[in-house]
Amino acid sequence: MVDMNYNQLYQQNKKTWSEQPNQLLKLARQDFVPGSYFLDLGCGQGKDALFVVKNGFKVTAVDLSEVAIKQLQATIIEQNLKNIEAIQSDVKNFVIEKDVYDIIQGNHLLQFLPKPVAIELIKDVQQKVKLNGFIILASFTIDDPSFKLPQPKKISTYFEPQEMLRLFDGFKIIHYIERVILDQGHGGVLSPHQHGVVEIIAQKR
Ligand SMILES: C[S@@+](CC[C@H](N)C(=O)[O-])C[C@H]1O[C@@H](n2cnc3c(N)ncnc32)[C@H](O)[C@@H]1O
Repeated sequence: MVDMNYNQLYQQNKKTWSEQPNQLLKLARQDFVPGSYFLDLGCGQGKDALFVVKNGFKVTAVDLSEVAIKQLQATIIEQNLKNIEAIQSDVKNFVIEKDVYDIIQGNHLLQFLPKPVAIELIKDVQQKVKLNGFIILASFTIDDPSFKLPQPKKISTYFEPQEMLRLFDGFKIIHYIERVILDQGHGGVLSPHQHGVVEIIAQKR
């Protein structure tokens, strides 16, 4: 189990991540049909889930952190949002219904899962997403500065160069990049820091 106390982090920071939706979502949005069904795995406090539901999508948002899910459920009630459900669950136990979701996202979730579990989840998502549906993933690569830290690390999974691309053989690749980004800081780590990331938007054909 990853020693990452998200409950504590979320308790202390009502908006741990920026309120802005992630860049990949903005990039892919033009390809989405309004009314599509969106699954957000490892949704955190729900910045992306809230953005998509407010843009006319139906949303299921799942996270391990009870604090995050309670906060998201409170926002849903406060803002009287329909078409969104927030579920507290480990993604390993969450059964993804087949051919229900048009878009399945995992924005910086996979790095917290053991590598075999992360790969299994990718395969499951590929099988379950609707035909012509989209998968949006961002995760850490071996270029992340934390990769060189001694064990035990807070991060479980790092992708090798081109590894994610190979996992999506047979899919239409809408966007793929491996790069080192400057994160301006967030709840828990306020100072700017770098991350090695891989980002993919892929469509099931
Ligand atoms: C870096 S945060 C990203 C949150 C969100 N996707 C966002 O972009 O704002 C990673 C999230 O993954 C969740 N997480 C980690 N392991 C998980 C698991 N096994 N099942 C479900 N969620 C998990 C954490 O609780 C945390 O909210």
